[in-house]
Amino acid sequence: MARASGLDLVSGAEAQTAAGTSPDVELAFTAAPGEVSLLPGAPTGVLRFSGTVTRGSASTLEAPNGSYLGPVVRLRQGQRVRVRFRNRTGEPSIVHWHGLDVHELADGHPRLVVNHGAEYVYDFEVTNRAGTYWYHPHPHMRTGAQVYQGLAGLLLVSDREEDALGLPAGAGELLCVLQDRRFDADNQLVYAGAAASGGTRGRRGRGGAGRGGMAQMMETMNGWIGDRMLVSGRVQPTRDVERRTYRVRLLNGSNARFYKLAWSDGSPMVVIGGDGGLLERARTQRAVTLAPGQRADVLLDLSAHARGAEVRLQSLAFPSADAGRVGMGGESSPVPQGAPLTLMTLRVSGTQGPRFRMPDRLSAHEFRAEASAPVRRVPLTFTQMNWHLDGRVFDMTGVADEETVAPGSTHAWEFVNQANPMGMEMAHPIHLHGPQFRVLSRSGGSANALREGINDAGWIDTVVVLPGETVRVQITFSRHPGLYLYHCHILEHEDMGMMRNFRIGR
Ligand code: C2O
Ligand code: CU
Ligand code: CU
Repeated sequence: MARASGLDLVSGAEAQTAAGTSPDVELAFTAAPGEVSLLPGAPTGVLRFSGTVTRGSASTLEAPNGSYLGPVVRLRQGQRVRVRFRNRTGEPSIVHWHGLDVHELADGHPRLVVNHGAEYVYDFEVTNRAGTYWYHPHPHMRTGAQVYQGLAGLLLVSDREEDALGLPAGAGELLCVLQDRRFDADNQLVYAGAAASGGTRGRRGRGGAGRGGMAQMMETMNGWIGDRMLVSGRVQPTRDVERRTYRVRLLNGSNARFYKLAWSDGSPMVVIGGDGGLLERARTQRAVTLAPGQRADVLLDLSAHARGAEVRLQSLAFPSADAGRVGMGGESSPVPQGAPLTLMTLRVSGTQGPRFRMPDRLSAHEFRAEASAPVRRVPLTFTQMNWHLDGRVFDMTGVADEETVAPGSTHAWEFVNQANPMGMEMAHPIHLHGPQFRVLSRSGGSANALREGINDAGWIDTVVVLPGETVRVQITFSRHPGLYLYHCHILEHEDMGMMRNFRIGR
């Protein structure tokens, strides 16, 4: 595996800015152990990102709420950004900007990991539309463990199209990162059967290596499911809210849990955006399905609610088999996939906030289905105790002919979630680095309670393929040549190799 040194990458960064442009914003990011108080009693050892703005507006970073999540990064379309990332996690790591379409050296591919103590410099320009993106580590076979220990944060991009809408902002915006965790009796994180705590408590697990046996292995194949729900690093928080319309930005930052989100008072989910920014028009849904990695931007109108009213963000019950399971073993989490959940409670105060009028049209989408785009079929399968993409597992720099595309070309990729002879079926959220893409069609599969909440209308970077389904997406690859990833965003699947490269160019 090519392991780039900090030095190589500084020169990579310089190459990209050789045109004489200096960045508009420069950030210093560190991933390091820490401790946070999540439950009554002992603090929990975690890994977390901290950041400072070394150039540009101080409002680029919004301090986290005292929990383990990294700072919220607020960027603007057109900005040139430099990030100096220092790895103090004690193991190799690298940061990926999930959803951003950037140069390959800024994408956080696992071949670019840096060791403990080393630095990696990212240089990129924000070309994405306004939207809710995020960042997390991406070292091969350790992504699940590092994210689980706390390494993740939101990255919000704004642009002029979004400005013009006057969407609720500031106190009118609720940022919600949905995660589930398991804790041991000492309040330390448990991951794949091992104590996973980073931090000064000094018991960092190795992701279950060598522990647990068959049951643990089956659980990893199902994806690791927690039994405590956290929103933005707080266990089932309550937030005081005004009587006004809120913009609620939701990220499923869980390793493997699916959510079917709805408001407890029957308020509709008014969806205005997905992974890749605003929809053309708002869509009213009873529930929103969010698979790991996915985002939803929704409006919640509390302006007519009574003082003291409580509205809970819930995940509705669904049969656990609808997210899938791998047969024998099952899950050991007392709160399995599909269990009804309360994630967060909003408590309405008497204060009347500003009024908001929903614009008719949110965004001018330029999407055209291209009937002549070449179609590639990508079966999602389980064989030899491993999840595969198109019959293959991850190979650090390996890329097949059918995974090579011309810069700027448009393709249809069809993900086929095949039933398997051993009866192992799962819903896989398939994510592509780089471009946001569109769903062309979804077919097959049997009745599935998660389908109701799936929104195939907007630009996305992660598509859920339910058991038995075939989902065809249209992708226009970016003009940045290089090696990028596509993978299942159930982090345990990704870590076990349900990930492949694709190459743009050559
Ligand atoms: Cu959010 Cu390659 O991942
Ligand atoms: Cu990504
Ligand atoms: Cu998967």
